Amino acid sequence: MARLATRNALGTAIAGPTATLIYDDWYPALRSDRLRSTKLETAMLLDLPLVLGRRRSSNGKDGRIFAMRDSCPHRGIPLSVGWFDGERVTCRYHGWEFEPCSGRCELIPSLTETDRLDATKIYASAYPCEERDGYAWVYLPGSGAGRKKELAELRPVPELAKFSDKYRTAHLTADLPCNVDHGIIGLMDPAHGPFVHQAWWWRSQASIREKTKRFEPIPEGFRMAAHAPSGNSAPYKLLGVYGEPVETTIDFQLPNRRYETIRCGSKWFTSLTTVTPVTASTCRIDVIAAWNVFYHVPLVTPVAKFFGAKFVRQDQVTMIQQAEGLRHNPSLMLIDDADKPAKWYFALKQARLDGSGKHPMDGPVELRWRS
Ligand code: FES
Ligand SMILES: [Fe+2]
Repeated sequence: MARLATRNALGTAIAGPTATLIYDDWYPALRSDRLRSTKLETAMLLDLPLVLGRRRSSNGKDGRIFAMRDSCPHRGIPLSVGWFDGERVTCRYHGWEFEPCSGRCELIPSLTETDRLDATKIYASAYPCEERDGYAWVYLPGSGAGRKKELAELRPVPELAKFSDKYRTAHLTADLPCNVDHGIIGLMDPAHGPFVHQAWWWRSQASIREKTKRFEPIPEGFRMAAHAPSGNSAPYKLLGVYGEPVETTIDFQLPNRRYETIRCGSKWFTSLTTVTPVTASTCRIDVIAAWNVFYHVPLVTPVAKFFGAKFVRQDQVTMIQQAEGLRHNPSLMLIDDADKPAKWYFALKQARLDGSGKHPMDGPVELRWRS
């Protein structure tokens, strides 16, 4: 996988301002193909250390994946330094054994016949964990949420749309040294394109022109409505070879998701980009894409990965530079219309956090900017 390093030019991590985090939702933790046999993997999500693995299944196929807090409920040593036999996670300190999907303690080796403590009443924190599009998605409940919830009680697990049986996929990941809010508004902001993403194969500053885009409200988000994508970008021109109208929609939805769909007759390209808080002051961008365009043309996957990685790398470098600037908490501004989506994001987030559910848009609006 294309894993891009963070850090500033000196190689030091930059601690910028923190963001408020949204709990009670799904976040991608890591690629699920890393969860194999009796390996335990760790990940950090929303400042919470996790240990992930895959249970052995009875039929020899891939078993269920799990995510637990990487901390033994007894005395806090990370469970990831213990052992996993495919069925139970054993703590390396005093050997307590846990069933990892439920977190239930199955054995406390030090107990004697006369002890009245029932080990199975003790639970390590386990979180709902599901595999979709090659990622392990973990549902992080707010504090005081109680015992792990069943899948049916939760919001649906995010999934990339696919419009045919055969398709190719690619993914990439990059760490960003800024908080999740800066990661997200940097992703949705249209005005940085001609400056940050200058390249012969994408677009140049000279191609800046006025755009009018129609946006409409969707639940906990907004949609940039179907339209023929910018005529000044090369990848979209390539799609035109099929000679049918090209339609794109881009949805943003809380807490952190950007869904893009491009359709041209029976050909399609979709992507899901998420910006996930790793800590309150750092985040990670993950892009998953699927397409049936040029399905039979060899080399399209590596070429697409190369361009995708380059594109994300440009955003990443910019955000590393921005993090330097944000270190001392300067006051900032958001302008109309190019920063309007960022304003909607902050209002939607506030509505989720305060439980009002109030949507900042009353109906469709047109935004105009030059990019
Ligand atoms: S700290 Fe894990 S069993 Fe004691
Ligand atoms: Fe960008």
